[in-house]
Amino acid sequence: MTPLKIALIHNLKPEAKPSHLPPDYYSECDSPKTVKAITNALRKNGHTVFPVEADKRLAHWLAENPVDLAFNISEGFHGEAREARVPALLELLEIPCTGSGVLSLSLALDKAKSKQLFCYAGVPTPHFQLFTRPDEPIDRRFHFPLIVKPNREGSAKGIWASSVVQEEEALRRQVEKVFEMYAQEVLVEEFIEGTELTVGILGKDQLLPVLEIDFSGCSASGESFYSWRMKEFQGDEKLGLNPRFWCPARLDPAVTRAVQKVALRAARAVGCREIARVDIRLSSDGIPYVLEVNPLPGLDPEESNFPIMTQAAGISYEALIQRLVDLALKRSSKRVTQSSIPLSNATVPDLQAPRSRALPDSGGKGLGSPAGPAVAVSERSVRRGAAGGNGSRNGSKEEGLGR
Ligand SMILES: Nc1ncnc2c1ncn2[C@@H]1O[C@H](COP(=O)(O)OP(=O)(O)OP(=O)(O)O)[C@@H](O)[C@H]1O
Ligand SMILES: [Mg+2]
Repeated sequence: MTPLKIALIHNLKPEAKPSHLPPDYYSECDSPKTVKAITNALRKNGHTVFPVEADKRLAHWLAENPVDLAFNISEGFHGEAREARVPALLELLEIPCTGSGVLSLSLALDKAKSKQLFCYAGVPTPHFQLFTRPDEPIDRRFHFPLIVKPNREGSAKGIWASSVVQEEEALRRQVEKVFEMYAQEVLVEEFIEGTELTVGILGKDQLLPVLEIDFSGCSASGESFYSWRMKEFQGDEKLGLNPRFWCPARLDPAVTRAVQKVALRAARAVGCREIARVDIRLSSDGIPYVLEVNPLPGLDPEESNFPIMTQAAGISYEALIQRLVDLALKRSSKRVTQSSIPLSNATVPDLQAPRSRALPDSGGKGLGSPAGPAVAVSERSVRRGAAGGNGSRNGSKEEGLGR
């Protein structure tokens, strides 16, 4: 392993939050614990590490401190493509960077755009409508309950018990509230009752054991989904915010495979490379609805979902961090840019996934339209309590996901 000079580029969570800011304002920021864990892992692997804040001084810092590689975990603040800022700067400076590129990070941040791509790719995703103003007419084809969320946030910001609405008046109120708090478009989706799953993908197509997040012991919280409180106070038994994690998920092996394939197809649809986490709700009739793709999944060694999955696959935290470095180095040595390869290459052979339940085309009003190929899942049943299937690795060359 060649020792490298690595900039660990992050947005550290400030110690105190000014009281006028919403409680979830800094939820996407990196904890000192995560930064320390990645720094230690890189150092253990023999590298010299410079943790550096992704702020306005970053370009100057990089000019003054030449590095071989950037390990990027910065999610950025404000703006329509905040997660893509650091990779864009690094691309300009020709500094190799871990993980996905500018285009995928921008697309994945925009949930509605991602869902349009899922529809095109035949990936099931809940029916949705993007509200570009609070008083937009509501699509009459919706089936309540619905969930209301900001279109471009993560860490479940803006997702509370009140986000799930049963009727139109509550929907309007929630849409207005999210507009006011987050100053961006609002995504409304049909709420999928069922099993919460997330799928980790590493390298080109290494599918990690599926992680199931079980909220059955969380009734005291009044929330049966991965809300902001559930994430922020994860493990607080008193508040009922103590989901149980099953990895591998308690699914029939055939269902596991179908879920993993849908996840891979979704990650490829937005052009992710080298690392991605795909969030899914598996409905009671066995359809794995993709909610979103996370190209910058949390890497807290204890709290975050992705390291739980790598650990279940027998990959230590240090090995995961080194793997991301190796993948970035290999890619940069080839000097192939994502955009030089057409999206049509990004197909998943022999995928048997359910057809998207997206609504028929609404004339460009932001609703999902199933333009992708019709696909059907044969394994509709989800066998609870059965041994889960393990992630598979097909040994093919590691580059971008499907690239
Ligand atoms: N359509 C839906 N049906 C059921 N549950 C949903 C739906 N949309 C969101 N949720 C619940 O809310 C959680 C957070 O939603 P989502 O993944 O879209 O937000 P996020 O802020 O991007 O999350 P992350 O922390 O993964 O970045 C989901 O994991 C799920 O539990
Ligand atoms: Mg999510």
